[in-house]
Amino acid sequence: MTAVRIRDLVLEFTGTTTVRALDGIDLEVAEGASLAIVGESGSGKSTLASVIGRLHPRSARIVSGTLEVGGVDVLALDIDGLRRYRRDTLAYIAQDPIGSLDPTMRIGRQLQLVLRAMGEETSTRRQIELLDAMRIANSERVIRLFPHQVSGGMAQRVAIAMAMCRAPKLLIADEPTAALDSQVREEVVRLLFEQARAQGTTVLWLSHDLPAVARWCDEVAVMYAGRVVERGPAQAVLGQPVHPYSRALAATDPSRARRGERLASIPGAPPVLHGASAGCAFAPRCAARIDACTTTRPEPAATRHSLCIRTEEMRAQVRLEVSA
Ligand SMILES: Nc1ncnc2c1ncn2[C@@H]1O[C@H](COP(=O)(O)OP(=O)(O)O)[C@@H](O)[C@H]1O
Ligand SMILES: [Mg+2]
Repeated sequence: MTAVRIRDLVLEFTGTTTVRALDGIDLEVAEGASLAIVGESGSGKSTLASVIGRLHPRSARIVSGTLEVGGVDVLALDIDGLRRYRRDTLAYIAQDPIGSLDPTMRIGRQLQLVLRAMGEETSTRRQIELLDAMRIANSERVIRLFPHQVSGGMAQRVAIAMAMCRAPKLLIADEPTAALDSQVREEVVRLLFEQARAQGTTVLWLSHDLPAVARWCDEVAVMYAGRVVERGPAQAVLGQPVHPYSRALAATDPSRARRGERLASIPGAPPVLHGASAGCAFAPRCAARIDACTTTRPEPAATRHSLCIRTEEMRAQVRLEVSA
């Protein structure tokens, strides 16, 4: 079964200038699989995550394309359908842990509301159980605290506990650990993926942390300028990337990536698009660029795809490197 199916999705932010944040996304995620979405800041990861949850701002306009989650046409849902979709299918964990909780309400009360919405028992004992499952020490005390009274790592674990107790079919996590220090980060990531596996939850994980992606995700989609430029099994895409952008990304200093910093060793920055890219949006920064790259728009192939018109040459090069 396919959990998420996206075809040629184009999204633009309208305003004084038009920004095309998604320039034709093609993506499929199998049920129960975990897919990491990686790419520099500004590549469209958060926009993609928000549109899958229909959480994108009003200024965003879907220009074309289709988006299905669990066979449901998400873009066509009415208010009731959307409410059901967000309640029964989706959980979303934002980057800022404290901001994703309600600052005016004690943590226990927030857990209670989630449990009630699920039609579950809302007792204090049940609230404590949920926090214990996230290895939160002193959970009896934590349920009486307000979000600002706990650390960032704790708040994020609470947010994950709230998301996972609903046994969502699809979990979207937008750089959920970027604000955490490395030890807490490892533990939180492990808990999240262990719970997701136990529940059969499909995970879309937006991340800069390539070593963690390699460790926990089945598949990787590399985004650049609002397109998925390469996707495939995590080990293959990170270990033997084919697309010149993935190759540059994978070559960025891994110790920096491990510390959760921005991947910034490729000179220049991703472009801000105002309409469809004519050729390949990466061409201006690409070491393998040929004249045709600025005019020929690479199109996706059926299998492990790489949006580069020189893909066959790149593959041959990767094969040579591997055999060397
Ligand atoms: N609300 C918005 N209004 C206008 N432009 C936006 C908005 N949100 C994102 N963008 C633009 O869309 C592009 C993709 O951004 P984003 O999805 O946040 O990328 P990422 O999460 O990969 O950093 C960027 O050029 C960004 O400036
Ligand atoms: Mg983002």
